[in-house]
Amino acid sequence: MKFYLETYGCQMNIYDSEIICSILLKSGFIKTSNLKKADIILLNTCSIREKPEKKIFNRLIKIKCFKKKKKQLKLGIVGCLATHYKKKLFEKLKFLDLIVGPDSYKQLPEIINKLKNNKKEIDVSLAKKERYTNIIPNGVRHGLSAFISIMRGCDNLCTFCIVPYTRGREKSRNPNSILKECKLLYKKGYKEIILLGQNVDAYFWKKMKFFQLLELIAKTVPLMRIRFLTSYPSNITKNLLKVVKKYTNICKHFHLPLQSGSTRILSLMRRKYTVEEFLLIIKRIKKIIPDCSISSDIMTGFCTETQADHRETIRIMNLIKFNFSFMFKYSSRQGTYAYRKLKDNVPNSLKISRLNEIIRLQKSHSFYRLKQNIGTIQEVLIEGISKQDEKYYYGRNYKNDIIVFTKNKSKIGSYKKVKILKSTFTTLIGEIIP
Ligand code: 5AD
Ligand code: SF4
Repeated sequence: MKFYLETYGCQMNIYDSEIICSILLKSGFIKTSNLKKADIILLNTCSIREKPEKKIFNRLIKIKCFKKKKKQLKLGIVGCLATHYKKKLFEKLKFLDLIVGPDSYKQLPEIINKLKNNKKEIDVSLAKKERYTNIIPNGVRHGLSAFISIMRGCDNLCTFCIVPYTRGREKSRNPNSILKECKLLYKKGYKEIILLGQNVDAYFWKKMKFFQLLELIAKTVPLMRIRFLTSYPSNITKNLLKVVKKYTNICKHFHLPLQSGSTRILSLMRRKYTVEEFLLIIKRIKKIIPDCSISSDIMTGFCTETQADHRETIRIMNLIKFNFSFMFKYSSRQGTYAYRKLKDNVPNSLKISRLNEIIRLQKSHSFYRLKQNIGTIQEVLIEGISKQDEKYYYGRNYKNDIIVFTKNKSKIGSYKKVKILKSTFTTLIGEIIP
């Protein structure tokens, strides 16, 4: 039986798709990248905001046509939309055959086989223990960089966020299985590992905390670059900063979602820090690791956000000047505390105009941060040939900046010293030091 898998959403979903591939391939299913050849089409979905959700529903309508042409074709939704809407999805999408949540992928082969009886199947339970410990991800990885999920779920319950409901409570993974996966990736020729978790620095296994795990990984695969995301601001400890500073193979980049620059809004969001505390965390990071990059997630138009709150966000962004940010307008998600108890009272047009304002501001900050590299010499991992011009290579420095430089005999996957000559709004331009 041939399966076709399409992935939406965050890195965690990309990783989960690898897990799904691994499970299905092991059970004798065959992967196809041609939708028309598939016997079952699976969409690994995201429900964090309204926009990705709409995109998925539109895609499903298109895929429905294939079902009309090929009667035996099955269609399944897996991932966050499955646990968000549960069996309501069958009511909404009559042509759907399967709904499976993020903690039930091991059951997928069995569930798919049951579909042969023309029955619809659903499993959206959230297991307290599912960590996919012994499954080596497979299938959709590409490039030099690989994800490793070290914890799943989230216990923070920010009032706007659906994640704790769609992915369940925090579950950290056994460090031995993480180290085994790191070594395997190294043997396979990968150059970089990205440790993933909704709340990566909340990792906790018996007595082992995140900074201890990070140190173990850095020592186990000293020739691999290690990145990690997403960090919860108040979980950045001195111990963690010391480990990041000590090991040259740990990248000097922190993804720290601010969400809002107004303490009043942060408190309504049930974030565990005030704006002043966030600024102190940034100060502490920069004191220990001055040449690091800090990125963020910022939201506009959360419940009751006033113009004064928005100006506070602008003020804080101007103070910090993040290297880059992912920015969103707030969309109310059914099931969250904010959906039930707070008023989604900022007009959509205002959410959008505030969003556009912070996007413009962030662009200028990203440019400012990139320009700070001009004249420096940086170690770059060559990742490939530039899509714009074949005469150039592109790669990244340890801060996650993209650098483009003239191609020479150096191999893709090697580390080279590059002098930074200039900067565009998004990319650094340099030359390899002989
Ligand atoms: N509306 C808009 N953005 C959201 N995010 C999470 N939930 C919502 C929502 N309901 C954003 C947050 C989070 C990122 C992954 O997505 O900024 O950090
Ligand atoms: Fe959602 Fe907050 Fe957990 Fe991030 S920390 S996944 S925003 S609940």
